[in-house]
Amino acid sequence: MQGPMDDVRTAAESLRDGGIVAFPTETVYGLGADALNADAVERVFALKGRPKNNPMIVHVADDAMARTIVETWPERATTLATRFWPGPLTLVLEKAEALPSLVTAGHRTVGVRCPDHPIAQALIRALGRPIVGPSANPSGRVSPTTAAHVREGFPSGDLTILDGGPCRAGIESTVLSLANDPPRILRPGAVARETIEETLGAHVEIVGSGSERAPGAGVEGEDGAGMLAPGRLASHYAPHAPTRLFRARDWPDVLDGAPTRTVVITHEAARMGERGIRLVRLPESAAGYAASLYAALREADALDPQLILIERPEDEGGLWTAIQDRLARASADRG
Ligand code: TXA
Ligand code: MG
Repeated sequence: MQGPMDDVRTAAESLRDGGIVAFPTETVYGLGADALNADAVERVFALKGRPKNNPMIVHVADDAMARTIVETWPERATTLATRFWPGPLTLVLEKAEALPSLVTAGHRTVGVRCPDHPIAQALIRALGRPIVGPSANPSGRVSPTTAAHVREGFPSGDLTILDGGPCRAGIESTVLSLANDPPRILRPGAVARETIEETLGAHVEIVGSGSERAPGAGVEGEDGAGMLAPGRLASHYAPHAPTRLFRARDWPDVLDGAPTRTVVITHEAARMGERGIRLVRLPESAAGYAASLYAALREADALDPQLILIERPEDEGGLWTAIQDRLARASADRG
């Protein structure tokens, strides 16, 4: 009988031939290719429309595989991998020579992630090599949390899609640089800063939304002065429709002058039926909110609105920090 693991075996063969395989993780779906095959990695950049100066993270099955693609594996990496792997924490470390420089966009560091999902794990193990795994969406758009979202993004793309159902966390991994001291969060994500600090017994910096420099800049001086890393540009994770945030206290005044086809995404404030405005509701808990956010952005977009208004939650730390980051990017000026 054909089962999911037969699909994984077939998908691994495709990866071996330089193909692209979208795969589920606990955060969002990734666009996989053999990380040691530069031609295959090149095809992922092309399919995503990703600028060549935005590095890709590499997915490994365990810390043993992680060590094969990094130059050094510091004590802190052991501490964090023991506590969080497999799980949504990406560690940025000095890259090994063997890893094609295309993967890291020429940077001396690589982001390494060990996903906590049986299909992702089985795929990496079946290939027996690390795989690149940017989120499986066209560059700058909303990340996919279902296999159907992946297909929407690449309707005619030549790729295999492994269907693992909806992603559990729904928001991307935390990207933590250990090439910095103190360690620095380059992208807030599913693992909270507070938990990392507790585990390391050390202060962890966090870079502000939209203000980041290129990876490694100011650390190794390799990036020259002040180039922004495209993956951290302000507008990202963005719906097609113009998107703005509002505070609960400004409801319903925020609707004054709003176009007829406005969609409101809300978790607390908005009441049903207000001036006939269409609502998309999100859960009040941080975990529930994160798990449903990207699907809600897509649902709102599918209503073909002139404007999407999102009620901005309070930043109470923990997972809310990552949620705030994604909302800021979804609503940032398109430039
Ligand atoms: O949860 C996730 O991390 C998902 C799933 C599929 O694993 N992947 C993901 O990949 O979100 P991507 O490429 O969409 O986002 C990775 C982020 C980008 O903003 C990229 O610029 C940054 O990590 N990044 C990658 N390598 C880096 C490096 N060497 N130094 C600093 N930032 C890096
Ligand atoms: Mg992405």
